[in-house]
Amino acid sequence: MERIDKIIASALSVTRSEAKTLVKQKQVQKNGVTVKSADEKADLQQDVITVGGRKIEYNKYVYIMMNKPQGVISSTDGSKTGEKTVLDILPEGFGRRGLFPAGRLDKDTTGFLLITDDGEFAHNILSPKKHIEKTYVAVLDKPVQPSDIAAFEQGVEIGGELCLPAKLKPISSDGKTAEVVISQGMYHQVKRMFASRGIKVLELKRTKMGALELDGTLAPGQCRFINNDELALIFSEK
Ligand code: URA
Repeated sequence: MERIDKIIASALSVTRSEAKTLVKQKQVQKNGVTVKSADEKADLQQDVITVGGRKIEYNKYVYIMMNKPQGVISSTDGSKTGEKTVLDILPEGFGRRGLFPAGRLDKDTTGFLLITDDGEFAHNILSPKKHIEKTYVAVLDKPVQPSDIAAFEQGVEIGGELCLPAKLKPISSDGKTAEVVISQGMYHQVKRMFASRGIKVLELKRTKMGALELDGTLAPGQCRFINNDELALIFSEK
């Protein structure tokens, strides 16, 4: 059993005081009866809680898709270096204790960053054993050559380590913009893979994790929650 205001705050990603206000406004019902006090207790596995007539589902964890902008670090604490983190720029309504980015994008890399408070999930999507594909679009200083595609397919060597096979596909007529699909998460991996071929990455954006694409309606810095069906897409190959 948990306090109703805590359940609502968690389920709707509002603050505890906003949840209390909803109770005061008599918008909250438990099993069809209007809740009088925010400290009333409930158990979502047994009780039906509605807010403004809509049933709420209690999610123990949250999963947030951010379109990461340039200039922020994928870390929980930037106080040592005075840098802004992705958590510092979370829009209102998304903040919650225990959030962290599941995987890192470089400070100058943009695109799909998953932020969660579910440690086990994060471990699973980052584990090299799970081979979750991550798709990037890279803008390069030179056009991609067929020999680069073949080298990526074979697995290039970076820092004395052989990378798993990666897919490389030019997507612009000049060959200087390319899509890259990797299934590991080595440090600066994409930039170093291109560097091993004598190519410099000028811009890098992550566009997809597994089969889940970055929501094209999210402007840089914007976020939205990921639902369960979408989470499953991360683990699927298509
Ligand atoms: N590879 C890189 O080089 N940088 C990133 O941010 C992600 C993958």
